[in-house]
Amino acid sequence: MISMSKTKIYVTRDQPGTALAELQNLYDVTINFEDHPVSKHVLIEQVAGVSGIIACVGDQIDGEVMDASGGSLQAVCNAIVGFDNVDLAAATERGIYVTNTPGVLTETVADLTFGLMLSVARNITSADRFIRTGTWYGWGPKQFLGIDVYGKTLGIVGLGRIGYAVAKRAQGFNMKLLFYDVYRNPEREKQYGLTYASLDTLLQQSDYVTIHVPLLPQTRHFIGKRELDLMKETAFLINSSRGPVVNEKDLIEALQTKKIRGAGLDVWDPEPPQANNPLLAMNNVVALPHIASASIETRSLMIQMAIDNLKSILQGKIPPNLVNKDVMNVRPLSSS
Ligand code: DGY
Repeated sequence: MISMSKTKIYVTRDQPGTALAELQNLYDVTINFEDHPVSKHVLIEQVAGVSGIIACVGDQIDGEVMDASGGSLQAVCNAIVGFDNVDLAAATERGIYVTNTPGVLTETVADLTFGLMLSVARNITSADRFIRTGTWYGWGPKQFLGIDVYGKTLGIVGLGRIGYAVAKRAQGFNMKLLFYDVYRNPEREKQYGLTYASLDTLLQQSDYVTIHVPLLPQTRHFIGKRELDLMKETAFLINSSRGPVVNEKDLIEALQTKKIRGAGLDVWDPEPPQANNPLLAMNNVVALPHIASASIETRSLMIQMAIDNLKSILQGKIPPNLVNKDVMNVRPLSSS
């Protein structure tokens, strides 16, 4: 008897919702159920013969991993918006389509970014830690004095979808809004009350600086000693984009020497940070484990989007969220 073998898919992390169960009805799907990123060694083992990988933060999908499929790999579909985990040039060269999940996580990431800003400015997490010690002796006019967010100047570095969504929230807090980006969109800038500033001016004038650029070779260590030195001593740095966009060593020094007042960090370099990372011991740092898009609704949409992209590619169609567009010249797919 001839058995028809199903297309093989490797999913690097288990996901919320029912989308993966539905994927299992269509393909021969292997899922990593352990709650940590797969090592390169495991990736290489698991991708043998697969047509698609559904990948996440921390999965380093490079040429070696791609080749470990033995030439069967057609699609790397990230269930995240970032794509710094995939070697795009290597994928394009091999005719492998790479996709991401733009748009669906915008509002959720903006919510968390605002949460970071409020938490660090108003000492929310350190006050929470304190009351749990059982040593609070009652209300005091000088306890946990923070800094207002309302009415202050917010500098947005990188004005993409998430940058705009943060600006929208900041309008409700009556903040003055500066932004820096290499692209301009005068109509939207006007709609959100945003004023363009050079990076240096933004850093010098902002009470809060929030980073929303993707991690690219040009944005690695985009914020380092020079930039931190330009910031006000009373200012806060918020990062919910990617850890390596900020030079973490320089940030530690800036906080230790009180060059800036505090930081709200959802992302690290590397992830996870080492237990002895000085940032984790600072009360003027709010530290989160990369949860900006972590709402049930959004994460369910993200995995569904990754699966939709994967299905398109495997059906020979250009996926809705293609990242490496040049791949269409290497291995053309139909546009419908
Ligand atoms: C992304 O989608 O890139 C986020 O960082 C994951 O939460």
